[in-house]
Amino acid sequence: MARIVAGIGSSHVPAIGAALDNGKTEEPYWKRIFSGFEKSQAWMRETKPDVAIIVYNDHASAFSVEMIPTFALGCAAEFPPADEGWGPRPVPVVKGHPALASHIAQSVILDEFDLTICNKMEVDHGMTVPMNLLFGKVEKSGHWPCPVIPLAVNVVMYPPPTGHRCFMLGRAIRKAVESYPEDLKVVIFGTGGLSHQISGPRAGLINSKWDKNFLDNLSSNPQKLVKIPHIDYMREAGAEGIEMVMWLIMRGALDDKVDEVYRFYTVPASNTAVGHIILANRGRGGARKSAAKAAAKPKRSAGKLKRAAARAKVERIRG
Ligand SMILES: [Fe+2]
Repeated sequence: MARIVAGIGSSHVPAIGAALDNGKTEEPYWKRIFSGFEKSQAWMRETKPDVAIIVYNDHASAFSVEMIPTFALGCAAEFPPADEGWGPRPVPVVKGHPALASHIAQSVILDEFDLTICNKMEVDHGMTVPMNLLFGKVEKSGHWPCPVIPLAVNVVMYPPPTGHRCFMLGRAIRKAVESYPEDLKVVIFGTGGLSHQISGPRAGLINSKWDKNFLDNLSSNPQKLVKIPHIDYMREAGAEGIEMVMWLIMRGALDDKVDEVYRFYTVPASNTAVGHIILANRGRGGARKSAAKAAAKPKRSAGKLKRAAARAKVERIRG
């Protein structure tokens, strides 16, 4: 039987992908961000998932206002990186898992969630940036470490799905995975956010208090999050903060009680708060053990953290 061993939440800021692609990861501004994912990459190398389901949103790359699926599941054998205006990112084509994806589509649709099935789809930074953050840099000529099933969610055009709907879809995805006969270790990503607004009078809005509270509840009290209406995300986390509902699909696919393996939060990246969390299931195949090892590595010193915070402040003022 396949099983979901862990959920990963990660921002998918496009500028992070650009920093990686343009060799800027050692610059202090970006190193502050990339170093926050080093333990996560160690955890991922130890966990070695067979498949990753990645919940993300398309940013007018595969879809446009002409066609807006609320939930679109990638069932293709591969997903090329999209050209987002400056050429496709120099990352490998993402290999899919059509058999598991089709099984999930059947199970979830018969469970009354009306997914759009995509047998051809390009994927943008919303998916490839979190893949780099968790899997590391992979040359275009190389291979991602595991097949990926993309799940694109509309959070770009009103109306996006509610947090409750997302959470329940996560539940249905878990049920689908657990009814797949092959013994596969699956991880699920929720991506996007955290607080940010990219245009209008409130452009640059970041609400760290809201973000940290969201991460706390995601870990230990997700039912509190499923009741949050869209207007609260918009008001508190900015217009694009609504992307955070996608993290609830990931959370819905996990046990009620999970082990928080790792968390990282920093501001800003570009003009966005960067949030990241790894939550491990406790049941059979849960990814708790390897996580504990990865998390046991020494933490950055208080001095280093202070210096990083000061740099972040300076960059925010510049930027
Ligand atoms: Fe996004």
